Amino acid sequence: MLEEKNYTRLCATKSMLVVNGMFPGPTIRVRKGDTVYVNAINRGPYGVTLHWHGVMQPRNSWSDGPEYITQCAIQPGTNFTYEIDFSTEEGTVWWHAHSDWTRSSVHGAIVVHPSEGTTYPFPEPDGEEVLVLGSWYTGDVNEMVQADLKAGDDLPDSEAYTINGQPGDFCPCSSDSTYRWHVDYGKTYLLRILNADMNAELFMAIAGHNITIVGSDGAYVKPFVTNYIMISPGRTIDALLTANQTPSHYYIVARQYNSGIISYKVFDHTNASAILQYNGNYTAPDKPEFPTTLPSYYAIDATVNFTMQFRSLADEDHAIDVPLNITTRMFITASVNELGEKSYLRMSSSFNNISWVNPPVDVLTAYYRNMSGYYTSDFPDEPPAFFDFTGMLSANTSASDFGTRVKVLNYGEEVEIVFQGTNVINASINHPMHLHGYTFYVVGQGQGNFDGEKDPKTYNLVDPPQLNTISSPKNGWVTLRFKADNPGVWLLHCHLDRHLSWGMNTVLIVKNGPTAETSLREPPANMPSCAIESNIKEAVDDKSLTG
Ligand code: C2O
Ligand code: CU
Repeated sequence: MLEEKNYTRLCATKSMLVVNGMFPGPTIRVRKGDTVYVNAINRGPYGVTLHWHGVMQPRNSWSDGPEYITQCAIQPGTNFTYEIDFSTEEGTVWWHAHSDWTRSSVHGAIVVHPSEGTTYPFPEPDGEEVLVLGSWYTGDVNEMVQADLKAGDDLPDSEAYTINGQPGDFCPCSSDSTYRWHVDYGKTYLLRILNADMNAELFMAIAGHNITIVGSDGAYVKPFVTNYIMISPGRTIDALLTANQTPSHYYIVARQYNSGIISYKVFDHTNASAILQYNGNYTAPDKPEFPTTLPSYYAIDATVNFTMQFRSLADEDHAIDVPLNITTRMFITASVNELGEKSYLRMSSSFNNISWVNPPVDVLTAYYRNMSGYYTSDFPDEPPAFFDFTGMLSANTSASDFGTRVKVLNYGEEVEIVFQGTNVINASINHPMHLHGYTFYVVGQGQGNFDGEKDPKTYNLVDPPQLNTISSPKNGWVTLRFKADNPGVWLLHCHLDRHLSWGMNTVLIVKNGPTAETSLREPPANMPSCAIESNIKEAVDDKSLTG
């Protein structure tokens, strides 16, 4: 149930929408392959939708959740039952609101245990711990965002990061409620880390302890040992930690990785902290040890070194299937843009120079019911112009066009997408790209402009990681591949909400296959309705105004 509740952080109290009275929201625990029904009862003051991030929802776009893409909002005083269809996911995925910036307070983990009779590809851990990284805003997030969007201003920065809802010892009025994780000496724990914050990639490290990465985004990876992580918003990382150090208290600290330009200093610099605390009798230190391995804000090398280590297990029990006969190739530039006159510049962002505009009726309904006029099927496979995307760019590259343009794929196409980050308006930055309805193989990534001759030779087609979110690197590129075998309407977007609000998204429509089993299902009876009549009326009024 969604309801507003008062929370006090950083010495101030505000009310915000949460699920079942919890921030972060409840963890959903399932087994691989389960079907779960979640009845979302909205007792809050505004409409909301929920998304099951990393759950592929075969043939079931209807329960995917993004507002204006697969549904309209669940209005206050109403409810909607989502059907969450788990298939191949195993590990950690998550859920969050997918309307406005409500996900800042409406999110939680989904733990997918191995199916009955199977087990982890590593020794059964003694225990488990979920760490949800989030962001805290002192004001009303949606109100601030609405005001800034209207004014064309930059969107709000968080005031603190949080670990399981708490900013921790380094933030004002916070040390009484710092999150503590209690462990027994000698035991091994499966740590499920989720970055649910709104706009920042985060580093995280645990003082005195290495961890072994074993999974990400609901799939296992070849284990590797590290003493810090970098996690993009949207990503999950599963890791094993053995409590084998001197029993004591150790800080777990997260802080922002800022991939923007170094001279740009306006971002949330706080250190979020929690405490790893051994059980038993010992004299606790005055202050827990701080993790010396935590990288600093601009540590791009630490980011690249960590990110490049992910590989699929790709063994007998976890076979992979990398598309090798690509039938659809897309080259998508990701830019932060400026629009308008010098006196009134507004921020926007784009894929292939198109800033997405939400239609008044969700794309899924318009597609399913053959309603014309809500979107066009002409999202381009390349940008309007090729230039030195990552160089110092002049102002004439900065504007984008608005559009509700989708890409239509035939069922079974083998798709390759190269994302190219651009330095338009000197605002090159990592963009954590997320695709709904699918996982993809990340076959390559690199710095600078993508070179169609040289770079494909570096692709890993043997054991690339299988993810649902990957950062297109600052001034660089990343290549993903997937087979379009899940018919429906699927959002593709940057998981920085600042960029999503400015239009850095598009929609892939995957057509039906030849059989009922390869076709989009029918809608459930109780889909929240879009206010179609009033919207049509507004559209008509607009037209009569303009001509
Ligand atoms: Cu985490 Cu569009 O989702
Ligand atoms: Cu982005």
